[in-house]
Amino acid sequence: MSRIPLRPVIVEAVERLSAAGVGSPRADAELLAAHLLGVERGRLVLVPMVEPEVADRYRALVQQRARRIPLQHLTGVAAMGGIDLAVGPGVFVPRPETELLFAWALAQLETVRHDHAPVVVDLCAGSGALALAVAQARPDALVHAVEVDPAALQWTRRNAEARIAAGDTPITVHAADVTAPDLLTELDGTVDVVLSNPPYIPVGALLEPEVAEHDPHPALFGGPDGLDVIRPMVPAIARLLRSGGATAIEHDDSNAAGVVEAFTADGRFIEIVEHPDLAGRPRFVAATRR
Ligand SMILES: C[S@@+](CC[C@H](N)C(=O)[O-])C[C@H]1O[C@@H](n2cnc3c(N)ncnc32)[C@H](O)[C@@H]1O
Repeated sequence: MSRIPLRPVIVEAVERLSAAGVGSPRADAELLAAHLLGVERGRLVLVPMVEPEVADRYRALVQQRARRIPLQHLTGVAAMGGIDLAVGPGVFVPRPETELLFAWALAQLETVRHDHAPVVVDLCAGSGALALAVAQARPDALVHAVEVDPAALQWTRRNAEARIAAGDTPITVHAADVTAPDLLTELDGTVDVVLSNPPYIPVGALLEPEVAEHDPHPALFGGPDGLDVIRPMVPAIARLLRSGGATAIEHDDSNAAGVVEAFTADGRFIEIVEHPDLAGRPRFVAATRR
């Protein structure tokens, strides 16, 4: 059979995804086509015609996306900083908004004194997105990633191995509960930067099907007010950080004041600052160890 034009097939996909309630139908339709064809999205124009069986495979992918399976589960990748992470069932899909936390960490690392290798801890690491993006950007850093969920840990380790194969400095992956009183005691007082994108959604919040049905629930929910993991993490962070070291925790839109309060109540932090995202929504709180 002769080849057919790709563009009308993509237009049909946009309509289908739009009707299914997908938030960004054009971007998703084009990204799925780019994934299938092995080109970047911006280069789809260079593939004007496809074999009919390619169009069929594309329609099958679009059908899955219309059933609200996350785009990243279909492509198998999500981005953070300068790297791609493998993702799929069992692990939280890294979100673009967490890039702000990553950028904050890089800026913070610029201020670390040059008399030692900077030490970074990523609490609640999931796919390893933050830890591995920091390791890629700062090969001089000693990076630790902590994750408790065995299913998520398989992805952390898989991504960590892939980054070693890509030539990055290896990170240390810890299977541990970030709320445990003895968390990483061997690092007490030595850490320059602690990052965390923990589970923080208040139980009962309304979520899109991609999130509710595909992100693991231990990655999402932080108890009735969203602070169940954050509150016990704060004393551990105070113990881990060296004097002058800094931390930032991503949180729910509704929770900036709660996170500020947790740092303030601990008494060992100064410069406790709320950071909004580009749309002005509260996104993370940063603080410095006295
Ligand atoms: C919102 S996801 C963030 C993952 C990753 N940091 C990112 O930004 O994509 C939160 C992660 O914390 C893990 N987690 C939840 N409770 C934890 C705990 N008490 N100790 C360690 N990890 C935990 C979940 O399994 C999940 O992988």
